[in-house]
Amino acid sequence: MAALYRKYRPRAFRDLVGQSQIVEIFGNAGRQDKLAHAYVFYGSRGTGKTTVARLVAKLANCTARDYVHKEGEPCNACVACAAIDEGRAMDVVEIDAASNRGIDEIRDLRESIRVAPSSFIYKVFIIDEAHMLTGPAWNALLKTLEEPPPRTIIILATTEYEKIPATIASRAQRFHFRKIPMRELVAKLNAIVAAEKFTITDEAVELIAAAAEGGMRDAQSLLDQAASTGASVDLATVESLVGKVGFRRIAQFVDAVVKGDASEALRALHEVRSVGGNVLDVCKELIAYLRRTLALRTDPKLEELFKDELTKEELAATVAHSKAIDPQHAIALLKALIAGYGEMRYSPFPHIPLEVAFIEHLGRK
Ligand SMILES: Nc1ncnc2c1ncn2[C@@H]1O[C@H](COP(=O)(O)OP(=O)(O)OP(=O)(O)O)[C@@H](O)[C@H]1O
Ligand SMILES: [Mg+2]
Ligand SMILES: [Zn+2]
Repeated sequence: MAALYRKYRPRAFRDLVGQSQIVEIFGNAGRQDKLAHAYVFYGSRGTGKTTVARLVAKLANCTARDYVHKEGEPCNACVACAAIDEGRAMDVVEIDAASNRGIDEIRDLRESIRVAPSSFIYKVFIIDEAHMLTGPAWNALLKTLEEPPPRTIIILATTEYEKIPATIASRAQRFHFRKIPMRELVAKLNAIVAAEKFTITDEAVELIAAAAEGGMRDAQSLLDQAASTGASVDLATVESLVGKVGFRRIAQFVDAVVKGDASEALRALHEVRSVGGNVLDVCKELIAYLRRTLALRTDPKLEELFKDELTKEELAATVAHSKAIDPQHAIALLKALIAGYGEMRYSPFPHIPLEVAFIEHLGRK
């Protein structure tokens, strides 16, 4: 079976999750037939840079121009679209800068850029991991960008924008690929779960999305791994897979904090340890959770800040806790957890600093 992330790679701009500004700009560029000769795509892993680069190649070369002008999308049915989808288009050149750094490769690139497209409208160069290019390569590219050959589009994709020389970046249209908000990751994962007929709990899907930290490829490959562990996937399976603890478990600790119930907190910690859970992660997530409740307590409008990292239900639970918690109490515990985290990292008994923090700060409201 093909990897999920390959199977679900968007074939049209409308299939992209998030990145709505980028989708809109390319839609207009397609409708008006106005593509730039150079682009820089930057942003974190698995957010759609290479995917969009290939979509741009189709938008530029789709032979159904009326369709492109009307929809701002490639038709996905013509010979050009099909060849690009199947990765066998001569005029769409993908270069991995990480493994093509030699002088010969650069000379080839320079010559290749000078040669007009053989059968397509545009020759498109997609240079992935562009931050790995060497000095001679940047020089060759700069010359090209100063006098762009007609019918050529160069797309540089990178996770490290600051390594792109300013002389290059300033001659290109630049697009920042944002991390994908948690709720959009969850929605996409649920759509895949339904299509693939996986059996997996909501909490497990949510933890996968949280662990992916805004990256769709990571989210989809974690789902792949989780699904391959057995017929039905629960939270504990994903917790051991990603070495992180689910939101609901952390919320359970905060319930204990609100009630000032040290024994409930100790019992919850024991539960995490008994399934091989990561206590360091409990501490870290608890710090993050208390920080959010305190921020919300200070100003409920700060909800905006957390919309990208929590689902709707998670945000509602956090808001409820922010109203119930005693801020002085929470601040004292937060400080103890931050100090405890430092000790835990080097301790042969990492759960003990956490237990001590609970005993010291709970039950003494
Ligand atoms: N915005 C998105 N919408 C839908 N799927 C996405 C999106 N971004 C990434 N994906 C999924 O993740 C896979 C990898 O995406 P892509 O190769 O475009 O990421 P990238 O930004 O180039 O990452 P890297 O920096 O690691 O090269 C795609 O095949 C697709 O399944
Ligand atoms: Mg890429
Ligand atoms: Zn087409």
